Amino acid sequence: MKKVIVLGSINMDMVMETDRLPKVGETLLGESIDYYVGGKGANQAVAAARVGANVSLIGKIGDDTFGSKVYKHLEREKVDVTAVTSEKNIFTGVASIFKLKEDNAIVVLPGANMLLSDIVDELNEKVNAQDVLLTQLEIPVETVKKGLASAKDKGAITILNPAPYNEAVIDMLPFVDIITPNETEFEGLLGYSITDPAQFEEEMLNWSLQNKTQLIVTRGGQGISYTTKNEVVTIAAEKVPVVDTTGAGDTFNGILAACLAKGMTVSEAVKLSGKGATLSVTKLGAQTGMPTLAEINAF
Ligand code: RIB
Repeated sequence: MKKVIVLGSINMDMVMETDRLPKVGETLLGESIDYYVGGKGANQAVAAARVGANVSLIGKIGDDTFGSKVYKHLEREKVDVTAVTSEKNIFTGVASIFKLKEDNAIVVLPGANMLLSDIVDELNEKVNAQDVLLTQLEIPVETVKKGLASAKDKGAITILNPAPYNEAVIDMLPFVDIITPNETEFEGLLGYSITDPAQFEEEMLNWSLQNKTQLIVTRGGQGISYTTKNEVVTIAAEKVPVVDTTGAGDTFNGILAACLAKGMTVSEAVKLSGKGATLSVTKLGAQTGMPTLAEINAF
């Protein structure tokens, strides 16, 4: 089995439950606070490891209490953390997640994640032909581009989850085999909003053909749409009780990378990853609900 290498962010998520957000100048009493390991890179690495992939994470933490907690957590989750380095005089990334009835509101303080730049040795050591490199945009865009270009050069499969969206993605496309935006991020890629939902799949197919990149759009409750050579296939999402949607996209991406490393086709991989992402929203915290392969198969 080939490896999954995740190049990305590591955060401590502080999940605060509150009825509403405070107005400027107002102090509110919230309901509760929970701490979970998060960050899109760490989440995707854990999602891939839970379904049995051999996963390495390339990332950066600060030399602080959160840093040592997240490092130990990733080790327990069987993620290879030998390429997770620690930096002095900077804090580990933190995400303040306000869990509101209608949805979440998130502020990310990237901290050490933004110092992840010198990754040449790590890439050389970890990435081989046919491995899968998965990355996102909570680390410097130059680092993401370097990682994709180097992995592509070595003959690895490259997946870019363009979240949070950044225009720099356009320059990375020559090094990307599969791109996995959500609907809003896909509109960022297009450069305009889709006003007629009936046009969504056509826009996907045109974009994919023009950019010679496999496109997979995660569409929340509507499911997942992906392009083939000449059509768009949509897999509807199954209905489950939703507790917390944080990390659902990360679960999808991590399992997708794991399935491709196991040699599955894109269509098989999307089906399994979609089920995994659906299961992940049934528990509080980005990683808590990430399923094992046995749990997905039983679903
Ligand atoms: O995708 C979810 C993640 O985004 C959270 O874990 C949080 O850390 C933010 O980075």
